[in-house]
Amino acid sequence: KSIGTGYASGKIILMGEHSVVYGEPAIAFPFSGTGIQATIRANKLESWIESSFFHGPLSEAPTTMRNVTVLLWYLVKHFKIPEPFYLKIESSIPAERGMGSSAAVAVAITRAVFDWMEEPATQEKVLHFVNQAEAVAHGNPSGIDATTISGTEPILYQKGIGFQPFQLNMDAFLVVADTGVKGQTRKAVKDIAKLMELRPYEISKQMRTLGKLTGQAQQAILQNRPQILGDCMNQAQSLLRLLGTSNRHLDHLIETALENQALGAKLTGGGRGGCMIALAENETRGRQLQRILLDAGARNTWIEGLGVYAHV
Ligand code: MEV
Repeated sequence: KSIGTGYASGKIILMGEHSVVYGEPAIAFPFSGTGIQATIRANKLESWIESSFFHGPLSEAPTTMRNVTVLLWYLVKHFKIPEPFYLKIESSIPAERGMGSSAAVAVAITRAVFDWMEEPATQEKVLHFVNQAEAVAHGNPSGIDATTISGTEPILYQKGIGFQPFQLNMDAFLVVADTGVKGQTRKAVKDIAKLMELRPYEISKQMRTLGKLTGQAQQAILQNRPQILGDCMNQAQSLLRLLGTSNRHLDHLIETALENQALGAKLTGGGRGGCMIALAENETRGRQLQRILLDAGARNTWIEGLGVYAHV
């Protein structure tokens, strides 16, 4: 094949970020509102990367792209890819905003290489490569981003145990808003690890409470009770704030959403910037919330009906 292409969407964590690193369950889904397209083909002179944050020879890629260069190294070794190659990355996922852009870029590239080499890209095989890249990007990833993004359905995920498909089918809409401020997942995960060392009793109790809230949210979804899901989201946000993962930009958008009839609101992903999510009882309210959040300073917003997965 002369050219290989691969696509990956972003992801949204509904409940369970950070506590998932400590073995608690989390609910996440691939987010079709954003995505990354990777294209790979042979090149003449040297291996080349074309992307919005870097374009130039692979050998000169900045250290911030180490997850990509490490991934390519594994893929080259495994597939004996013909070098030099030309790799193009086109993304509509805002980088470092808790939407899983690092996992998505890795999934898109891996799928493109599998396509180029005409090998079926099963989720298991893709994950094998993507997890290596994620370890570089995140330090101590739970694996939730890579697992969600390499799949097609909402999942209930538990580190070390794996995932199960999860019917995220509820009469409600989720509004996603980007603060426009870069999140700091790696740093936030590290700082929580430090807190865990200093105050193990208190912090592990908070992690368990976050895990319980994910369980309650799961029940609320199964019973189609948006108000209860909203309460779970609010309680999770209070704990995430205590753990130092929120910031004033997130708090401002979350408060604005709650003042405007959101059923619940919280950060999503690593936090300290990045995106927040708000639950709306119907599409009209959801679209109103989008406008209000944009007026309140959000860089961008999306809306997703939680019933859409019913027939996947
Ligand atoms: C990042 O999307 C989610 C975190 O829980 C980190 C991880 O699970 O690896 C913050």
